[in-house]
Amino acid sequence: MKFAKLLMTTAIGTVAVLGFGIGTAAAKGKVNLYCSAQEDWCQLMAKGFEKESGITVNMTRRSSGETFAKIKAEAKNPKGDVWWGGTGDPHLQAAEEGLSTPYASPNQANLQGWAVAQSDSAGGNTIGIYSGALGYGYNEDVLKKNNLPVPACWKDLLKPEYKGHVQMANPNSSGTAYTTLATMVQLFGEDAGFEFMKGLHKNINQYTKSGSAPIKAAARGENTIGIVFIHDAVKQAVKGFPIKSVAPCEGTGYEIGSMSLIKGARNLDEAKKFYDWALQADTQSRALEVSAFQVPSNKSAEVSPKAPKLESIKLIKYDFVKYGSSAERKRLLKKWDDEVKSLPK
Ligand code: G6P
Repeated sequence: MKFAKLLMTTAIGTVAVLGFGIGTAAAKGKVNLYCSAQEDWCQLMAKGFEKESGITVNMTRRSSGETFAKIKAEAKNPKGDVWWGGTGDPHLQAAEEGLSTPYASPNQANLQGWAVAQSDSAGGNTIGIYSGALGYGYNEDVLKKNNLPVPACWKDLLKPEYKGHVQMANPNSSGTAYTTLATMVQLFGEDAGFEFMKGLHKNINQYTKSGSAPIKAAARGENTIGIVFIHDAVKQAVKGFPIKSVAPCEGTGYEIGSMSLIKGARNLDEAKKFYDWALQADTQSRALEVSAFQVPSNKSAEVSPKAPKLESIKLIKYDFVKYGSSAERKRLLKKWDDEVKSLPK
C-alpha cells in the first residue's frame, strides 16, 4: 500500500515536472530564421541560439538574392521572422521596399562604425554583422596541370587561355555575384564594367546559384578559378585544399553582411532576442569554429590571424546606398540578364 502510494506520488511528480517542462518550452517559443551565410555557420547559429535561449529555431539557408525574393513573395503572409547573413545590398533593398522592420538593439553600441552606418542608411531596418572583400581563388594543382599562368588582376580573367576555367554565381540569386557586378561598374565605370562582364562571360564555365559554390568546386578539382569573397577561398585552404586566394591588383569591392527583422514577423519577440544575441561578441567569435573568416561587426569579437586583412587590400569606396537601392539593383540585374547572360560563349 505504501509502495503504491509512493508510486502514485512519483507519477504525479513526474507529470508535474513534465508538465512544467513542456509549459516552459512552449513559453519560450520559436523563431523562423532565414539564413544567407555558409550552411555550416547557419547551423551553428541556429543550434547555438536554441541551446542558449531554449527557443526553437527553424532555419532555412538560401542565397541573398533568393532570400530577398522569397521574403518579397511572402510579404502578405510572412513566414520568416529574422534574416541573418548574406550581402547587405538585398537587405537594403528589403528595407526600402518595406519588407523589414526597424529595431535598435541595445548591443548596437558595441559595433564597428560601418555596421551602424548600414543601419542608419536604412532607417534602422538592417544592421551590419560582418564584412569581407571580394576577389577570387584558384586551385593551384588544376592551374599547373593546365599550364595556366597565375592570375593577379581582374583583367587577367579575360585572357582566352582561361576559357572554361572561371566560375561565378548568378547575380540574381547570389549576393556575392551581385557584389561582383556592382564592383565592376564602380571600379571601371558602367560601360567598361559591362564590357568586362561580357568578356568574362566567354570564360565562364557555369553560373551557380550560391556565391561560394565556385570555390567549393575548385577545391574538389572540378573548376579552376572561382570568383568569391576572399574569406570563402581562405576557408577552403584552411580545410587543406590547394586553394590560393587573390586580392585583384586593380582594387576590389566588399560586402557588409547584414541582418534584418522581417516585417509582420509572427515571432517578433523571439526574433529580437536572436538579433541581440547575434550582435554579441562571444556569438560572433564562434564563427571561427566553422572557419568563417569575415571581419566581425562587434568590436570585441575574435579575429583569426588566418582571416584576410582588409587593411592590406585595395578596397574601392563601395556605394552601398546606391547599389542597394531597389531601382539600381533591379536595373543592373536586368541589364546583366539582357546584355551578358544571353550572349553566346
Ligand atoms: C558566403 C560568404 C558570405 C556572403 C554569402 C553570400 O556565404 O561567406 O560572406 O555573405 O556568401 O551568399 P550568396 O550565396 O548570396 O552569394
